[in-house]
Amino acid sequence: MRRLSDLIKKKLAGQVCLLRTDFNIETPEDSLRLEASLPTIKALLKKGVKIVILSHRGRPVKPEMALSLKIVIPFLEKQLKQRTVLLKNIPGKLPAGKLFLLENLRFWSGEEKNDSAFAQTLSRLGDFYVNDAFAVSHRKNASVTSLPRLLPSYAGFLLEKEIKTLSHTMRNPKKPLLLIFGGSKVSDKIPAIKNLLPKANKVLLGSSCLNKQNLIPKSKKIIKPKDWLSQDSLALDIGPLAVKAYIEEIGKAKTIIWNGPLGKFEDPKFAAGSIAVAKAISQSRAFSIIGGGETTQLILKLKLKNKIGFLSTGGGAMLEFLAGKKLPGILALN
Ligand code: 3PG
Repeated sequence: MRRLSDLIKKKLAGQVCLLRTDFNIETPEDSLRLEASLPTIKALLKKGVKIVILSHRGRPVKPEMALSLKIVIPFLEKQLKQRTVLLKNIPGKLPAGKLFLLENLRFWSGEEKNDSAFAQTLSRLGDFYVNDAFAVSHRKNASVTSLPRLLPSYAGFLLEKEIKTLSHTMRNPKKPLLLIFGGSKVSDKIPAIKNLLPKANKVLLGSSCLNKQNLIPKSKKIIKPKDWLSQDSLALDIGPLAVKAYIEEIGKAKTIIWNGPLGKFEDPKFAAGSIAVAKAISQSRAFSIIGGGETTQLILKLKLKNKIGFLSTGGGAMLEFLAGKKLPGILALN
């Protein structure tokens, strides 16, 4: 994999970088992905490189102003002290400026269709390409897999950090390794659980596993909540006995990987389990990796970010990576 960390040592002034980031956020307060993109942007600007940021937001099927990327401009301008020009269309030639943000890539149908003509049009804007969007590297989209094959392409600092941290932890975890998987879609987590089960000492599951019991692999290592809170016959949070048992496991672990809240935490009635687990992880001495949009949001809300080993910007991408799959966006950089 070619890396920006090598390229950045060379003379780059005046070149244009097409930088794929993942700014797929609901609101600018949801700042993990925005903040995580800053080191790469700052380093490129410092070298005198012009940047065209490319990202998607949400799942629009046609242009939808509610999903415009313009909401990230105040954040970028404040953090970078640099005017950011929003490109509503793909220009033949860049206007004056140093930092550009192309409107939501999914406003063009070619992005999700992985259309080569769309990738060609994008490629004409830049001299080289950087993927710093780990969170979308599992998608075969034009800006993720076709564009990097048309220009010299590199992994950005964030992508490199995500790959290094996740692969090192998977290869060589300090034992006991504890996995905690929650979230509403248990089925998304099954491949990662199966791949990591031989290495894991315990796997703790959130309350939603009780609603889809047949999917869970059979293993003594997998612990389901002993008690839970429910509404309309759906389990919506783990109960106090489960919280106690989970905190004990967290106390014993040396490595913890957590993806997905343990209950419907956006409803305060069902948030206690996720909050207790987040606090216990932040107080444990284990190296912890936490990923998934909802789980990382909870950590930010509780102001525990600095007490976590690594917050992954990936949701689905983190799970596919942990499941041992080769992500197409990373393969395209080879
Ligand atoms: C994510 O939020 O997981 C990524 O941005 C990918 O978004 P998608 O699931 O809509 O492709």
